[in-house]
Amino acid sequence: MVTVEYDAVAYHALPKGLINSRHRFKYVLVFLFLAVSVFFFLLRDIVTLEGLSCHTAWLFFPPRNSSCAAYTRKTPQPSQHPVPTFCSHRGPGPTPDEALEDRRLLDAIAWPQPPAGPVPAPLNQTSDPAHSLFAILPSRGRRAWRVGDQLEALVQMKDFQGRSKRHGGDFLVARLHSPALGAGVAGRVVDHLDGSYSALFPLPWAGPATATVTMVHSSEAVAVLRRLRERWPNRIFFHSLYRAGNLSETTACLPCLPPDYPQRPLCNHTDPHTGEPWYCYKPERLGCDARVNHAMGGYQKPLYSKQEALLFRSGVNLKVVLHASGPDSIDVLPQKIDGQKLENSSTGAELVQYTPAGYYYQSYWKPVGGTAARRFDTSTSITQCLTGKVINMYGDSTMRQWFEYLSAFIPEFNLHRSKMVGPLMAVDSKHNILLKYRCHGPPIRIQPVVVSELRYVANELDGLAGGPDTVVLFSVWAHFTSFPVEVYIRRMRHIRRATVRLLARGPGTLVVIRSANFVAMDQTTSTHSSDWFSLQMDGVLRAMFQGLAVVLVDAWEMTLAHHSAHNIHPPPPLIKNMVDLVLAHVCPDETDKKS
Ligand SMILES: *[C@@H]1O[C@H](CO)[C@@H](O)[C@H](O)[C@H]1NC(C)=O
Ligand SMILES: *[C@@H]1O[C@H](CO)[C@@H](O)[C@H](O)[C@H]1NC(C)=O
Ligand SMILES: *[C@@H]1O[C@H](CO)[C@@H](O)[C@H](O)[C@H]1NC(C)=O
Ligand SMILES: *[C@@H]1O[C@H](CO)[C@@H](O)[C@H](O)[C@H]1NC(C)=O
Ligand SMILES: *[C@@H]1O[C@H](CO)[C@@H](O)[C@H](O)[C@H]1NC(C)=O
Repeated sequence: MVTVEYDAVAYHALPKGLINSRHRFKYVLVFLFLAVSVFFFLLRDIVTLEGLSCHTAWLFFPPRNSSCAAYTRKTPQPSQHPVPTFCSHRGPGPTPDEALEDRRLLDAIAWPQPPAGPVPAPLNQTSDPAHSLFAILPSRGRRAWRVGDQLEALVQMKDFQGRSKRHGGDFLVARLHSPALGAGVAGRVVDHLDGSYSALFPLPWAGPATATVTMVHSSEAVAVLRRLRERWPNRIFFHSLYRAGNLSETTACLPCLPPDYPQRPLCNHTDPHTGEPWYCYKPERLGCDARVNHAMGGYQKPLYSKQEALLFRSGVNLKVVLHASGPDSIDVLPQKIDGQKLENSSTGAELVQYTPAGYYYQSYWKPVGGTAARRFDTSTSITQCLTGKVINMYGDSTMRQWFEYLSAFIPEFNLHRSKMVGPLMAVDSKHNILLKYRCHGPPIRIQPVVVSELRYVANELDGLAGGPDTVVLFSVWAHFTSFPVEVYIRRMRHIRRATVRLLARGPGTLVVIRSANFVAMDQTTSTHSSDWFSLQMDGVLRAMFQGLAVVLVDAWEMTLAHHSAHNIHPPPPLIKNMVDLVLAHVCPDETDKKS
């Protein structure tokens, strides 16, 4: 069992004194005006949800009958129905302890607010990656870079008119990589709140290394996302089918009381065990007990103005790499064997030393600290590792990817359920291996899932005995991005409590949490599935499980460090690296598993 050290997500400001001391380095940056060289992030839509046809439907006008076509006729302007505070009357509020934790978590993920001024800011005053620059700072004493040092780059953001930005809040990510070595590692970006940022890169390998800084969203775009998240939580919505005899009706569902409550009758499908709220409009002619399934309803049309839409242009200001004002590559020498003290970047001593979760080398992920990397390249090695284990997998389709990977080695047992929805099962009775996957509960965006299979992860964990033969893997994030963070905090709190109970009941249970990952985004998908939403939830997840005897698979860093295009469903090489990491925790010592 390994207790993982989580790095707090530190995209925040440094103390003022540190900021000033770094201004002297700004001369290093020669702000060249370069021709546009942009990366188009081509990958299309995210979601998991094939074949949904009611995209223009509107939550507060649920269909009167089950025909989706009838649903498109009313599409009122969103401004008619703002949601002032989400779930403001959802019954008993959080307990004082919960409220305190909520506060602490929200503080931990606080993001710089935009300065006062017109909203949205004029486009030509918003951050423009094509004008912005970064520069690698020289090492202290200009000596050679060595493995274990920390490289620092200074970033200066500019607007479309080439003027330096004077406030922070841009969502930048950094990566160091070497295609020749199959190497890559996530950097960390520190916001100095004055338009400049530092990107910190660990140097885990010897050889060439190229730094990349990408603007995911401008601070102005983040402000739009924040507003959408707080005020339009129902921009993704859900349906349930109710059926009895020859009558059937479909109504809209949501995770808390709608603004027009109590004018319209509701069915209260709040989970009795966890208290997770869930409501659907009551069918006109059927009772609430007649609920048959749960499904994704659709997406609301983008809820931003034309001017705001310009803040989300692929290749312009959405996931665009910045130019370097000088060389963007360095050569890293091996670590000195005489144990000479490692050095930070010239200014690095002022910044926190940043330890990544791991890095790629020759295309294999090597975790830093904790468990040693191991490769499970053969069917035998995987089977041997899993012998005698019951592996319980819960969550969204990013967890289902792990099931699919492993079920290539463990024969799948046909439960006659949809591949997309599950539950799924794989059994190797010779080696006594049982592998199970189940999707998490609402608000899962999914093809219709029958209500008897719609379970909350916390309740599933409460149904396990646990013990050294039990492995629990879960991934709960992708379907929460469109909601206020409080919804995610509440869900994670229930799962954490159930995890604590499970670990107490069944000592030796291995619990592995898969974090969020970067996704492909365009103008539309940004509004409900932006990486910025995921980043915020990821900060919550790490803080909430810190100190528990659980393992984190840092899919966030693993997708940032990798060269493949971002995709909500990371490609096979990433899945293999993630599952290998899980297996290394399942059977840390090869000699244990001689059968
Ligand atoms: C149900 O849908 C059909 C066709 O879309 C329509 O003709 C009918 O009037 C609808 N019924 C109700 C009760 O709205
Ligand atoms: C910047 O945009 C504003 C509003 O669209 C416009 O009035 C102004 O002329 C623009 N300034 C420049 C220098 O383009
Ligand atoms: C529905 O069922 C009821 C009672 O079973 C029957 O009277 C009615 O004719 C049925 N309606 C249709 C449209 O089949
Ligand atoms: C829904 O049910 C839950 C649990 O039974 C209850 O706490 C909550 O108050 C109910 N909501 C409404 C609006 O009645
Ligand atoms: C780099 O700077 C940090 C922060 O001051 C310090 O803790 C660390 O020891 C330094 N590392 C080296 C190798 O000097």
